[in-house]
Amino acid sequence: MIDFKKEIADILNDKITELDFQEILNMIEIPPDSEMGDFAFPCFKLAKVFRKSPNMIAQEIIESIEENDLFGKIENAGAYINFTINQETFAKTVIEEVNNQGDKFGSSDIGGNKNVIVEFSSPNIAKPFHIGHIRTTVIGSAINNIYKFIGYNTIAINHLGDYGTQFGKLIVAIKAWGDKSVIESNPIPELLKLYIKFHEEAEKNPQLEDEARMWFKKLEDKNEEATELWKWIRDVSLMEFNRVYDMLGIKFDSLAGESFYSDKMPAVLEEMREKNILTKSQGAEIVDLEKYDMPPALITKKDGSTLYITRDIAAAIYRKKHYDFYKNIYVVGSQQNLHFKQWIKIIDLMGYDWAYDCIHVPFGMISLEEGTMSTRKGRVVFLEDVLNKAVEKTREIISNKNPNLENKEEVAKQVGIGAVVFQELSNNRIKDYTFSWDRTLNFDGESGPYVQYTHARASSLLRKAEIDYKNNIGFDKLSDKESMDIIRILSKFSEVVVDAARKNEPSVVTRYIIDLAQAFNKFYHDHPILTQDKEIQKARLALVSAVKQAIKNGLNLIGVAAPEKM
Ligand code: ARG
Repeated sequence: MIDFKKEIADILNDKITELDFQEILNMIEIPPDSEMGDFAFPCFKLAKVFRKSPNMIAQEIIESIEENDLFGKIENAGAYINFTINQETFAKTVIEEVNNQGDKFGSSDIGGNKNVIVEFSSPNIAKPFHIGHIRTTVIGSAINNIYKFIGYNTIAINHLGDYGTQFGKLIVAIKAWGDKSVIESNPIPELLKLYIKFHEEAEKNPQLEDEARMWFKKLEDKNEEATELWKWIRDVSLMEFNRVYDMLGIKFDSLAGESFYSDKMPAVLEEMREKNILTKSQGAEIVDLEKYDMPPALITKKDGSTLYITRDIAAAIYRKKHYDFYKNIYVVGSQQNLHFKQWIKIIDLMGYDWAYDCIHVPFGMISLEEGTMSTRKGRVVFLEDVLNKAVEKTREIISNKNPNLENKEEVAKQVGIGAVVFQELSNNRIKDYTFSWDRTLNFDGESGPYVQYTHARASSLLRKAEIDYKNNIGFDKLSDKESMDIIRILSKFSEVVVDAARKNEPSVVTRYIIDLAQAFNKFYHDHPILTQDKEIQKARLALVSAVKQAIKNGLNLIGVAAPEKM
């Protein structure tokens, strides 16, 4: 495969001895508009060295470059040297690369196998897995896939909210009003009911709060009954969460949640006391963060019990020891910005130089549209209901449009769930948005089904082809604008993936897939593919096969299936 950037750097390196190869390579840009060429080298930086205008420097360098069959044109535009790749060479290089690399196309080994932790989803057990959790779950999983694809060794952690005083309350409620078999038949909603009932009853009878504290203390002290009940709550909750994870095709490498750190806390507290960062305040212990413009962080309560933030500090220290991470990424909503700023500062104050390798990747909030109701009673929209509704709607569409489709049920799931995930990953993660059933179930426009349909269309063309489009292709047949636009987009895939990782922004990949699908549909509309002219047909099919592969790889990264038929 020809690396054009490297070729350009090689050419320029001979002419510009003042800069080294790597510097030159880093300076090469991709112009925003393809009319300006495929690559551009800015000469501003050289102006100081040569004491000439960048424009003149660009001209002089160009004059000294010999003819080169990789580049059709090398021209000067202002302070830039613009390189336009020889179209035939370009088409051949890109398409052969996609089709040879297959599922690996776009991947790289930039990560050098370094450990990157991606923590995401992290729901609280015994609480609904609701529409708000969809964001962390699908954004996090996509980020995990993206890092893996560029050669990092990723560790996907679900930091379950499975510890804290609320479990004291739940234990009291289960013991007083719970029926295990009823709960097991419908765990989360039943546990939620009990939790709500606890708060109602505690208003009338404040003694319940004391009882709840006592049960949580028992849990901390490893009391058998408390532990058993807690474990059971955790198991039945996980059963329900796992159903959703299965639907989304999401797997974790570790379920070490908050409870996992309960026995690791004393040592961390001891360390914090030794390092003199804890201050006593009315019997509790805090870290004063005034100097850093933040409110104090409460680390232990009066009764000695620990908090959410304490567990995050213990977790980070454990993870560094256990995984020696290069980056430790947390995909958690922007409501928790302060929480993360606080504890990462505390890790810094403890003297750990890796503090800022812990990275909070926030996302905006989802609010519910006025009048949005869950299918079950209550004000929460359960994620599972959203997914099921999307599948149901897809099933209907398929039975109207394509009643003879094989594995209808499988495809309905792939398309319905894919639609929800795709739309979730279409926008910048930091944007707030309002959940609406209409938008979620709208399959027109720049949607998951649109892209999946494009992939299926490409697959169908390749199935129908009765010609070998893998060998002896005349790439000069792809010089029309629509083909070249596709090829240019294809050539950017691996950079797009790296960019998505750098920004922790899966929507970069989603937008890319949409661009590619649109470019392909334009080409498909303007040019017959299975034409009489076998040479043209061959070249176009090779292009189709590359597009199909790139869409599939892109969808794979964001966790959306690419069915062959739909
Ligand atoms: N369980 C928390 C919640 O549902 C999210 C946990 C985020 N992760 C963390 N390490 N604090 O709000």
